[in-house]
Amino acid sequence: MRTKELRILVYEYASEQELAQADKQLVQSARRAASGAYAPYSHFCVGASLLLANGEVISGNNQENAAFPAGLCAERVALFYAQAQFPDVPVTALAVTAKNEQGFIVEPVKPCGSCRQALVESEYRFNQPIRLILAGETRIEVFEGVETLLPFAFKPGSQG
Ligand code: THU
Repeated sequence: MRTKELRILVYEYASEQELAQADKQLVQSARRAASGAYAPYSHFCVGASLLLANGEVISGNNQENAAFPAGLCAERVALFYAQAQFPDVPVTALAVTAKNEQGFIVEPVKPCGSCRQALVESEYRFNQPIRLILAGETRIEVFEGVETLLPFAFKPGSQG
């Protein structure tokens, strides 16, 4: 028996002003997207903006449903739309923001497990890590690749 230990690097920024211009714009786009969420049940509005390798920015927000499981998270709304419109273009970055009735949440929002799985599929599909920019009200966390948040993922080739 031997043990393995994983290290996850988190790049923490005290405010949006510390980000590179492109990342800052992506966060601002995600903040705008959150305002269009359809979240009458949770009142938790999530905005996600993707940067594609061709420079396109595609945004999405969560779409809830009275039959709860029929709803979809902001990240997958944006990802599936991007990949439907630009099936050959890799996703290079994703900014995520969220607000409740009090305003943008303090703790940077983390994508749910299903969204991580969908994003990891995109990383494998294009052999391109997706830089994750998770924005709180002011503090921002950046992860270089979604697989850092979903290690040992089930992925293409995992079936032998
Ligand atoms: N939600 C997202 O859109 N993305 C996340 O990363 C976490 C959760 C949505 C799903 C649901 O509409 C609401 O937030 C509350 O869970």
